[in-house]
Amino acid sequence: MRRHVREVVRGMILLLLILLITTSHYVTPIDYVYLHEIYQRIYYIPIILAAFWYGPLGGLAAAMLTSVLYAYHIHRDWSHIPSYSFNQYAEIFLYNVIGLLIGFLSIRERRHRENLEKTSRKLADAYERLHAAFEQLRRSDRLASLGQLSAGIAHEIRNPLGSIKGSIEILQSEIPPAHPKHEFVRIIQEETARLNAIVAGFLQFARPPQPAMEPAVLNDLILSTLVLIQREAERSGVEIRRHLDPGLPEVQVDRDQIRQVLLNITLNGVQAMSDGGVLEIKSGIDQGTKVWVDVSDTGPGIKDEDLERVFDPFFTTKPQGTGLGLAISFQLATNNGGTILVRKNPDSGVTFRIELPIAQRNPSAVPPALPAPQSAE
Ligand SMILES: Nc1ncnc2c1ncn2[C@@H]1O[C@H](COP(=O)(O)OP(=O)(O)OP(=O)(O)O)[C@@H](O)[C@H]1O
Ligand SMILES: [Mg+2]
Repeated sequence: MRRHVREVVRGMILLLLILLITTSHYVTPIDYVYLHEIYQRIYYIPIILAAFWYGPLGGLAAAMLTSVLYAYHIHRDWSHIPSYSFNQYAEIFLYNVIGLLIGFLSIRERRHRENLEKTSRKLADAYERLHAAFEQLRRSDRLASLGQLSAGIAHEIRNPLGSIKGSIEILQSEIPPAHPKHEFVRIIQEETARLNAIVAGFLQFARPPQPAMEPAVLNDLILSTLVLIQREAERSGVEIRRHLDPGLPEVQVDRDQIRQVLLNITLNGVQAMSDGGVLEIKSGIDQGTKVWVDVSDTGPGIKDEDLERVFDPFFTTKPQGTGLGLAISFQLATNNGGTILVRKNPDSGVTFRIELPIAQRNPSAVPPALPAPQSAE
């Protein structure tokens, strides 16, 4: 619509210019030859503009309209000076040549510009993908060194924690629930349980079990995970929508590990919408090489500066969170030959994408290699 308005305005400008110059020719007495010579050249402005905006046909149309209007003026006012009027007719011929020529040049220039724009868009796209790959590499690297360093410490914390837990159980039996200090026993028990969960989570992160890869139906893994979050979603007023591609090939993964990834991510989505919203789970296939699951929510989203940190261990904005859910998920996905990406939604909330490798169908069916040719020694 806006383009249409712009075209109409441009057409009006051209018509007005041509009519204005023509009127000037007709009303200016022929004694002012120098003025007529100026008008004659100003005709080039609308012709060149028309060629530039509309290509050779536009240039030619403007030149022909000018020719007709101007030719009558030459015939009417200048035919008594044949040499001068011949000059003016020659100019008319030039109007048409210039209109066509500039039109062709402008088309060529436009095509050139469009090609350049296309190339620059492709370059920007490639840069973005490179940047994402680099970030992922950096993250994996950072996680690996951090994991090695802290795994030992976490392991050592577990033993004293076990002793505290045992001791408090003994004390609990001696302090009845009615005792004023019983509350402290409860606090110690709760906090040790929380610490234990953090340490256990961290140890899983630092020393993840080797995935037992086998072919699996991704949509089944999604459905069995959704059953687990159903109650929590209902409590928060979150509606779960599914758009699962029924034609997905099987994936080659450790089912329990991928279920855990799906659980962490869908649970985060529900937790982000404590006042209700929509959790959408889609699955699909990308260029026939990998299968993906998108988990989108309509929550408050993630701040730009936090987007890169959500996969870091212990990054959390929740009072009771350990900040290990996504760190573990990222590592599990990577160990299963896949990855996890996050992006902001245009309206609200975020989308986490889990990409997983497709299972090789019947790998033994690969044709055996041809025997090496005998060397002719
Ligand atoms: N869907 C989401 N919407 C908004 N923020 C999110 C979402 N998913 C993750 N986050 C942010 O990323 C942080 C890290 O998530 P992660 O799952 O690693 O830990 P957590 O949920 O805080 O704790 P835990 O999973 O251990 O209970 C969250 O605290 C939250 O700030
Ligand atoms: Mg979480």
